[in-house]
Amino acid sequence: MNESALDAANSFADTFGYPADGVWSAPGRVNLIGEHTDYNLGFVLPFAIDRRTTVALAKRADQTCRVASSFFDEIIECDRADLSPTSVSGWAAYPLGVAWVLGQEAGDLSRLPGFDIYIRSSVPVGAGLSSSAALESAVAVALNDTWNLNFDRRALARAGRRAENEVVGAPTGIMDQSASLLGEADSAVFLDCRSLESRTVPLNLARDGLSVLIIDTGIAHANANGGYADRRASCELGATMLQVESLRDVMVDDLVRARTVLDDVTFRRVRHIVTENQRVLDTVRALERGSARDIGGLLDASHRSMRDDFEISVPELDLAVDAAVKSGAIGARMTGGGFGGAAIALINRGDLSIVQDALADAFAERHLAQPQVFVVEAAQGARRER
Ligand code: GLA
Repeated sequence: MNESALDAANSFADTFGYPADGVWSAPGRVNLIGEHTDYNLGFVLPFAIDRRTTVALAKRADQTCRVASSFFDEIIECDRADLSPTSVSGWAAYPLGVAWVLGQEAGDLSRLPGFDIYIRSSVPVGAGLSSSAALESAVAVALNDTWNLNFDRRALARAGRRAENEVVGAPTGIMDQSASLLGEADSAVFLDCRSLESRTVPLNLARDGLSVLIIDTGIAHANANGGYADRRASCELGATMLQVESLRDVMVDDLVRARTVLDDVTFRRVRHIVTENQRVLDTVRALERGSARDIGGLLDASHRSMRDDFEISVPELDLAVDAAVKSGAIGARMTGGGFGGAAIALINRGDLSIVQDALADAFAERHLAQPQVFVVEAAQGARRER
């Protein structure tokens, strides 16, 4: 058993006074490319990372649910039968929200027992690396096994998303949970958010001597805040004005006409989504035919589109991207919902320290707090640890 699983099992026993039935884990994710395309039913290409949320869980004889964690002293307690979207708030809305959704989807609620759960995580919170999806997915696989629900990974991803939308109140898409549940080592998950069909695309980072560097600006982002919902509303307005079901149905060639129909802001929001979908397809083709070395221009173009058209970047993210590219990164872009969080840079392994030094200098020169900089590997998705 790995150290995190052992730690979760031990902490469970210390907290609740008896051993857990099992330990499960699920990773955070980084989005390689395809931003804000998921709720527009387009394409995304995230990968699961080697930072995981680990949960130890045991089924109870009664209907009580107790949730403990390494990050808060409190133990949240409730009755499973009383769970509802409004009965939970704060961080416990993630695990208990998933329990509520799975209970709903399982239909026969009376047969599902309560549980005790202990949670620990190495996914940084607020960095845009989907600590929330990691938590939802870890709880989803744990309860799926414990309650013998036999939902497949796609159904579990939908359950995690429902918890986030209906219980936490963040109007997010399906990308993060899909990455966390479907990820595989050294691969990205290419997901069509309309059909929910997916396939893994090998990244071959080690083979090609490449690394993905995360540059966490420390500017906390939250998808439940206004900016994310506002962009989503703009996309819906654009689709309505263009008389399509979703922006997935708008192609790059249609943008000429779209410009004549839409106001400037809505047009630029639409242009980001439409060109970003195409960049995802181009990235997949480049990875499958050649190497991640060939996608630098697509990453850079994605960042510019988010900065200028979708307007979800912040100066610290722009600085991180510029400093990385100027000091030799193959490509770089902000990743995740935006308005803060992290950027990624694709870098030759041999250039890592040069880029890291350049980032440190760039932030110091502007008297900004130093970003947290670390390399991530593409890792396996959610799994049972023991
Ligand atoms: C957040 C959401 C995702 C997706 C991204 C933007 O991470 O949770 O569903 O919309 O933002 O690509």
